[in-house]
Amino acid sequence: MRPLASRMSVMSGEGALSVFARAKELEKQGRSIIHLELGEPDFHPAASVNEALNRAVREGKDRYCPVIGVPALQQALAEYLRKTRNLNVSPDNVVIAPGCKIALFMAMMALLDPGDEVLYPDPGFPVYASIARGLGAVPVAFELSEHNHFQPDPDEIVAKITPRTKILITNSPGNPTGTVYTDEVQRRLAGLAVDHDLLVLSDEIYARIIYGGKYISMMSYPGMEERTLIVDGFSKSFAMTGWRLGYAIAPPRIVPALAMLAVNTYTCVTEFTQYAAIEALKDREGATARMVAEFSRRREQFVHDLNRVPGFRTLPPEGAFYTWVKIDDTGWSAEDLCHVMLEEGGVAAIPGTAFGPHGKGFIRFSFASSTARLQEAVQRILQVSSQWQRMPASR
Ligand SMILES: Cc1ncc(COP(=O)(O)O)c(C=O)c1O
Repeated sequence: MRPLASRMSVMSGEGALSVFARAKELEKQGRSIIHLELGEPDFHPAASVNEALNRAVREGKDRYCPVIGVPALQQALAEYLRKTRNLNVSPDNVVIAPGCKIALFMAMMALLDPGDEVLYPDPGFPVYASIARGLGAVPVAFELSEHNHFQPDPDEIVAKITPRTKILITNSPGNPTGTVYTDEVQRRLAGLAVDHDLLVLSDEIYARIIYGGKYISMMSYPGMEERTLIVDGFSKSFAMTGWRLGYAIAPPRIVPALAMLAVNTYTCVTEFTQYAAIEALKDREGATARMVAEFSRRREQFVHDLNRVPGFRTLPPEGAFYTWVKIDDTGWSAEDLCHVMLEEGGVAAIPGTAFGPHGKGFIRFSFASSTARLQEAVQRILQVSSQWQRMPASR
């Protein structure tokens, strides 16, 4: 048999999805599992969004439609970004895609040649490095270190820039650490991008989920409009993970390249979901604010409770809905802890190295579950914690 393309051996999956698969297997065997591994809000879209979806289907909006998106949604997104991020974006620069992840993939495919270097955060969303490698590019990690409050260090980044560096990926608020990059850090990163003629791929999927302060997009800084691609979507802010709806905001010279990739792949995004998305952006019921307020309450409680687990240490994240827990003091590896928590305690979480080598010594828990489930999860973890208290250095 002829082999697969060599790129398949350099791409990698997502730790969250493999833990999820194992957790599902255990559930099939009758075990009770608390899922804290996936980044999926336990909310559903507001009633008015579902109604708009039904209306669009009734009206026959189930056809092929414009490749880069229906104009009414492009317009609504430009308005939404003006209101929520103070950005002045033309609707023509909005490209609708079936998910933020595919927008990210298309952006990288449109921009990277083999050998080009991509700076990306470690720990970070695992597909940044995987997609870069799959395209023959070279992912170059910059560290989000605890000593630096998980902020990018512009001095480290500048030291890693070479003549082949083409893209700097930023992700604020970040998965898995929940860090919201400071204005000062972002301003310095923007300065570096301008000085070294880099494109910035700003993954803003968690922009609406912050616990205080005002969100500042990387696109807001001087000189950044023509070199920033924002990728975002409806999965997290509007609890629409399964709708597969995302978008890129790209400089005018890059939009035709994204359109070319859309033509060569998905043709257009489902028409009726795009119409329903316009209703989601209007957010008449204040659903996003209510969801974030609920996440905020859970965050306080869950962080407090997790710090009661022997050997666990964590601080409240500034954004997103993950706690990034340092587990060094248990004396165990995150892999062994996650194994025991899942197999014996019935709690699914992800070892930090699933997000890159600098995730060593950490575990990511999602708190997009009800307070009762989160409390039950900590009870279960406390029960199995006797194992690492008994044999702290044996694993
Ligand atoms: C940082 C980051 N970017 C992008 C995505 C993907 O979003 P979507 O569901 O729209 O593809 C995720 C999902 O977990 C994420 O954590």
